[in-house]
Amino acid sequence: MYVDLGNALSSVASPGVSRASLERLDEDVAAAHERIERGRANDEHGYAALNLPETADPDAITATVEPVADAEALVIVGIGGSALGAATLADALDSDVETHVLDNVDPEHTNDLLEGLPLADTAINVVSRSGTTAETLANFLVVREAFEDAGVDWTERTVVTTGEAGPLRDLADTHDLPVLKVPDGVPGRFSVLSTVGLAAAAIRGDDVEALLAGGRDVARNLSGSLFESPAYAYGATTYALDNRGASINAMLPYAEGLETYAEWYAQLWAESLGKDGLGQTPVRALGATDQHSQLQLYRAGPRNTMVTFVRPRERADRTIPETDVEGLSYLGDATLGELLDAEFEATEASLAAAGRPNVRVELDRVDERGLGQLLYGMEAACVLAGELHGVDTFVQPAVEWGKNAARGLLGAEGEYPEADAVEDKEQL
Ligand code: PA5
Repeated sequence: MYVDLGNALSSVASPGVSRASLERLDEDVAAAHERIERGRANDEHGYAALNLPETADPDAITATVEPVADAEALVIVGIGGSALGAATLADALDSDVETHVLDNVDPEHTNDLLEGLPLADTAINVVSRSGTTAETLANFLVVREAFEDAGVDWTERTVVTTGEAGPLRDLADTHDLPVLKVPDGVPGRFSVLSTVGLAAAAIRGDDVEALLAGGRDVARNLSGSLFESPAYAYGATTYALDNRGASINAMLPYAEGLETYAEWYAQLWAESLGKDGLGQTPVRALGATDQHSQLQLYRAGPRNTMVTFVRPRERADRTIPETDVEGLSYLGDATLGELLDAEFEATEASLAAAGRPNVRVELDRVDERGLGQLLYGMEAACVLAGELHGVDTFVQPAVEWGKNAARGLLGAEGEYPEADAVEDKEQL
């Protein structure tokens, strides 16, 4: 993972950050790094996620999913942090296993998905740390019923990823299903390199060890200085730009396979840093597509946005066929990859020319190692930004509020005062 901050400097951009203020901020980075290291050493909640490249057990994951290793299709049933990591990997990495993520509870979508699946050859990975999330449990019950209706033994096709206790764990025990435990101290949005993200990767045949090796590459470089650690350089710069008015952070990867990564990043950033009236608003975008839509705003709209570019340095390519059509011959000597790179460089330069802050993040390739680096690097950046902001990065009370309210509205057992607030809402 490589990070270039040149276009975030105040000599180029407004808002921007000067080299001198980054040097001053580096003292806070050193103190934050010490807290992070202490948290990691004690396996404290949240910080433990940064140990996953060392603590995850790829062999145990592979062995547990073995009963469904022959699957032609995979349905990941989960939501939020229990779906987006696996979805990101599935979007970015090629596999012969057709992979679907069932996170939303839109009945039309669920019906369409289930109708099109080869159920006898489909694996289910149902994922919920709490084992209580309404959307996930409801979807799983629906999927299970579809298997039963088709005469397929769902117990033979299901792998469960969940916590030590809870309704999903009980269900798994009752039916003697293979279970992978969600590790302690790892919040959903930091769980891609744990059993939460890696079970699906193992079923798909992705190289789980290489994903973890990518995480280790970045972990090795975490140090008390942002000038030595690309992940901290990114986290500290977003923090500095946010303080100077860049309250929006548009994530703009230039690789189709990274579209879901932008969604994963948006959750990581929003749910971790959106507290106490603080936090950058992440925006999901995709290059070159969004050059033809959002870019206008980022170059000429309010000066409240930074853009994060992500691109692989190498990718497979395809030549653009030559043509004698007048005005198009310039395309004939190029490849699609060269065109995408030209679009990237033009957009980056165009933002810089307009004095709009942007940061470039590069990886060698969109493969397991590169993704491990990118995902772990962004998690480390987020933890650092949380320390600098002084927020509690690893909790999500607003998300829990909504989950409780929905349970209460549906009449679940227990006390759900949040549901009363929904029922008391005034109408205008
Ligand atoms: O990051 C988070 O904490 C959330 O997005 C959760 O992952 C999400 O709500 C799903 O929770 P659970 O895994 O308990 O089903």
